[in-house]
Amino acid sequence: MDLDARFPSLPHLRARARQRLPRFVWDYLDSGTGAETARHRIRAALDAVLFQPAILTGEPAPDLSTEVLGTRWSAPFGVAPVGMSGLIWPDAERLLASAAADAGIPYTLSTVAAATPEQVGPATQGKGWFQLYCPRDPAIRADMLARARDSGFSTLVLTADLPAASRRERLLASGLTQPPRLTPRLALQCALRPAWSLARLRHGMPSMKTLEAYADNATGGATAHIGYRLRVSPDWTYLEETRALWDGPLIVKGVLRAEDAPRLEAAGIDALWVSGHAGRQFDGAPAPLDSLRRIRAACTLPLIYDSGIEGGLDILRAIALGADLVMLGRGWHDALAALGAPGAAHLAKILRADLCANLAQLGANRPVDLRGTEILARASGP
Ligand code: LAC
Repeated sequence: MDLDARFPSLPHLRARARQRLPRFVWDYLDSGTGAETARHRIRAALDAVLFQPAILTGEPAPDLSTEVLGTRWSAPFGVAPVGMSGLIWPDAERLLASAAADAGIPYTLSTVAAATPEQVGPATQGKGWFQLYCPRDPAIRADMLARARDSGFSTLVLTADLPAASRRERLLASGLTQPPRLTPRLALQCALRPAWSLARLRHGMPSMKTLEAYADNATGGATAHIGYRLRVSPDWTYLEETRALWDGPLIVKGVLRAEDAPRLEAAGIDALWVSGHAGRQFDGAPAPLDSLRRIRAACTLPLIYDSGIEGGLDILRAIALGADLVMLGRGWHDALAALGAPGAAHLAKILRADLCANLAQLGANRPVDLRGTEILARASGP
């Protein structure tokens, strides 16, 4: 199959993923929360960043490499953490970790992934990032950090924008339970999607493997998923304690307010991750791209951005407004769902191609050269 012709962009992969995934899996991957208007704001804010193309700039010589947190990455994009990644495509965690290591880009394993740090660590070639949903029990926190470190994860990402579960009404209506149970309704959805179901049969039903070791310590109703039964909503003290416990780079994810940036910098945080949790947590938040520019002005830390990225031009938009690295979560899973294992390398290839094509159009060789470029129009979405 000529992948370049059939799937030249992420939206092409996404359309295929939607055809191949059972409805509850698609809704898990794709849904936001509430009326899902944040998704539109995220997209509109990206579309509103326009550049003035330069002319007569000679032969392009693109250089996509970027150094962030002491590591030289081959491109300014990477893999954001996604809970139950292995539900969306079997073995997604290991497939994405090794594709990212091969491509020289960062991979982030979620606390609530369907694979453990021990299973995924070797595939990251010592450059993986581990995302933390904050365990309430200090002994579990210490154990989880030790497991991540011993498995070769160099960098910790503490997610701060999930103080409680969001409602995700579309997902609720799809019938997905946690842990996933094959009810007759879900079985029917699976029967309509044989590619996913056959791959699933070979791997079995996924669960939150990292957390299962601690299941005896979980509190709360038996129906609440184990992630929520074990975790606490973190505060500044929790963050400071975690800073003291982790001697590698520590990133705080989910920053939207510029006034939080100097305080996080003072707390010894190494980078901020500006994110709207891809519209999954709070439907009334501004587009994180709008926050990015304000946060860039408020601190000197490296900035990571995610939410709504569909191609190289979007990556350039976020970098122009201050991001050092731009992450995708859904996109990599769209690629796996569309193509299976080869999907990740294909998406990395098309993102690179799109970055180079757009950089050339702008007469720039490095994405970071676009910072401070004259931006023709920049308006928030509706
Ligand atoms: C989500 C959480 C688990 O967005 O991060 O689904």
